Amino acid sequence: MGCPEIDLQRVVCRLADLAASGARAFTVGGGEWPLRGFVVKHGAGVRGYVNHCPHAGHPLDLLAHQFLTPDRTLIVCASHGALFERDHGLCIAGPCAGRALRPIPVALVGDLVLLAPEVDVAALAATIT
Ligand code: FES
Repeated sequence: MGCPEIDLQRVVCRLADLAASGARAFTVGGGEWPLRGFVVKHGAGVRGYVNHCPHAGHPLDLLAHQFLTPDRTLIVCASHGALFERDHGLCIAGPCAGRALRPIPVALVGDLVLLAPEVDVAALAATIT
């Protein structure tokens, strides 16, 4: 059985890249409005979200790839401290409590994290203001 065919334009990172900080920012697509997202480990899998806080629309990480609380249990927005669950992106505390991060479906193929085939990068990026 051969290796699965991989669309290199959909590769986000290697799974091993998440070991150090538990999460990683990525940019996919071109032009003035590429899709900016991040991936975070969750159990044996990975979750992906748009890097856009539902409170004021800031990127969540002020320091590159720093998306998690010190104990790594939650996602934190560096701007005003909103806290989000890792598995579904629901905000459980902070100025946007009850709202959620926008998910980006991702898939694991071997040691690679890829955008899922159903993700329309340009369409998703265009919805983010
Ligand atoms: S912009 Fe994220 S908590 Fe305000």
